[in-house]
Amino acid sequence: MKFTVAIDGPAAAGKGTLSKRVAEEFGFAHLDTGLLYRATGARVIDGADPVAAAKALQPTDLDRDDLRTTAVAQAASKVAAIPEVRDALVEFQRDFARRDGGAVLDGRDIGTVICPDADVKLFVTASDEVRAERRYLELSENGHDVTREGVLRDLQERDARDRGREAAPLAAAADAVVIDTSDMSIDDAVAAAVQFIRARF
Ligand code: C5P
Repeated sequence: MKFTVAIDGPAAAGKGTLSKRVAEEFGFAHLDTGLLYRATGARVIDGADPVAAAKALQPTDLDRDDLRTTAVAQAASKVAAIPEVRDALVEFQRDFARRDGGAVLDGRDIGTVICPDADVKLFVTASDEVRAERRYLELSENGHDVTREGVLRDLQERDARDRGREAAPLAAAADAVVIDTSDMSIDDAVAAAVQFIRARF
């Protein structure tokens, strides 16, 4: 059985880990669509024009080592508000979703814009404080020089920009199931998602 799973939600809600584990569970391919915007943002920091950078993006750009920094995250969220940047990245995402063997895509607009016909739509969220703590631990464990306050500010700033933009704002699709992971371990969240998906097929 193969199908498309769309997973959206605000920054650091646990979408990435959840998506990876759901994809593993079903043997599907996984695309972290945030990487497309991060790679575009990183090129803009290097001096490129945002639209030209998005149009010229190559799969190998997604492997850059610096994509996880908060500077790149902020640049990503700024370029992500530009409609022409988003348009340039649509086809790659839709092609990925249509691949044989099933796909899990995570981002902000997968269930609403990229794959409105996805078989399963999840909207993963958590309180600001929980998200900031998780992201703080992840970044500091990986050697980034960050503070809890700084991480919280970064998340809130990006979420406000992502929710408030006109082009494909961050929002749950009307038919998405909301998973609030504030009081859940990642294992519990994966189990809940897998159970929900299995019950549908
Ligand atoms: O998910 P991640 O935090 O890596 O995303 C970085 C930024 O890319 C987000 O803050 C958002 O502005 C943008 N993004 C988007 N649409 C997606 C995925 C990410 O606008 N589908």
